[in-house]
Amino acid sequence: MTGPSGRPEQAGGAMPNRRLRLGMVGGGRGAFIGAVHALAARMDNRFELVAGCLSSDPARARASAQDWFIAPDRTYDDFQTMAQAEAARADGIDAVAIVTPNDTHHAICRAFLDRKIDIVCDKPLTTTLDDALDLVAQVRRTGLVFVLTHTYSGFPMVRQARAMVAAGELGAIRLVHVEFLQDWLAAPLEDQGDKQALWRTDPQRAGPGGCIADIGTHALHLARYVTGLEVEAVAAQLRSFLPGRRLDDNAQLLMRLTGGAEGTLLASQVAHGNECGLRLRVYGERGGLAWDQERPNHLCWAPAGCAAQTLSRGDASLSAAARRATRLPRGLTEGYLEAFGNIYADAAGAILSRRQGGRPDLEDIGLPGVVDGAIGIAFVEAALRSQQDRGAWVEISLAAGRI
Ligand SMILES: NC(=O)c1ccc[n+]([C@@H]2O[C@H](COP(=O)([O-])OP(=O)(O)OC[C@H]3O[C@@H](n4cnc5c(N)ncnc54)[C@H](O)[C@@H]3O)[C@@H](O)[C@H]2O)c1
Repeated sequence: MTGPSGRPEQAGGAMPNRRLRLGMVGGGRGAFIGAVHALAARMDNRFELVAGCLSSDPARARASAQDWFIAPDRTYDDFQTMAQAEAARADGIDAVAIVTPNDTHHAICRAFLDRKIDIVCDKPLTTTLDDALDLVAQVRRTGLVFVLTHTYSGFPMVRQARAMVAAGELGAIRLVHVEFLQDWLAAPLEDQGDKQALWRTDPQRAGPGGCIADIGTHALHLARYVTGLEVEAVAAQLRSFLPGRRLDDNAQLLMRLTGGAEGTLLASQVAHGNECGLRLRVYGERGGLAWDQERPNHLCWAPAGCAAQTLSRGDASLSAAARRATRLPRGLTEGYLEAFGNIYADAAGAILSRRQGGRPDLEDIGLPGVVDGAIGIAFVEAALRSQQDRGAWVEISLAAGRI
């Protein structure tokens, strides 16, 4: 079965006779990721954006809402009013996208969870582990859908890598190397008023982790998502290379993973020449895989004893999970926006399934959720403790089965 965009139908519930109504908090004019969410939500014609509190500045929130043709009576100055008013409407929102800086995620998530509204929240989940665990508890209590947008899990060739590991094609995993290298904070943009740099380098807004939380959690999730392994302990070196910068802009970690695997995680925002250099390499006893976010339509596969080969998005031989996430024939490139769209399409399926009385399992669907978010925050806290203890090994008390 194919959806309106031509891609295979997403996991979860059947098509309803209308689009799901989406609200958004954050994402006003000048913001980065909100517009990406709004586009991704529309991509498969499963959501329409009908309500919003799009900025912390009410005038900007109202002007931004007009850009998206959001009706004045569904344009809100603060998220508490929005949650209350939307929950009270017969045609209230089905789900909310939360695309604000990290320090606000917990309060905004609670406001909507408490009113039984499904959530798509951006990462990192929160700024403290207590807040993260509170959200896990609330999601479990309410049974609501909570999707965390670790975007890279939406790429077809990442889903292919995950399917190959799950099918045992690599055998037992020995090594996991993941890196997320960028260069955009190599200059002190926070001193030049750059909006995104300002809050990301401010511990009050970003939380206690800088680069480790901002992109290290993406790298961690990618490694966990593909391998199915948990990181049990880390030995970390974090630092800021720019004088006066209050949060780390570079991190390098050794990792011990479940099943005896070992690995490394590098995250940097000061590595000149790297734009969005997220790369994953996984080596098992029967073969190795490598994926590069900047060449996302390909996956390098090296079966033991053979020369490496390139698998291509759109190949007929790929897994059902990869084919389901594919929109265009091979050779026509897909990228970040389509991956985001895949997450929203699957989120729509999960929300519909829940509304029809099902209990969608995000792990089975291949969607990151609130537990993944809490593991990310536990990872950041462990890395920071290791750094304070001069790189000593620190165990991560929260692995998936233990939350
Ligand atoms: N998944 C990804 O690939 C990805 C990429 C970029 C950012 N992010 C995450 O998305 C979030 C936002 O990042 P960004 O770069 O878009 O930030 P940004 O600074 O560009 O935008 C934040 C927006 O939130 C608004 N806002 C702040 N507090 C608010 C409040 N109380 N009520 C309503 N609006 C409020 C701001 O006015 C602004 O419009 C962060 O958590 C970040 O880590 C994820």
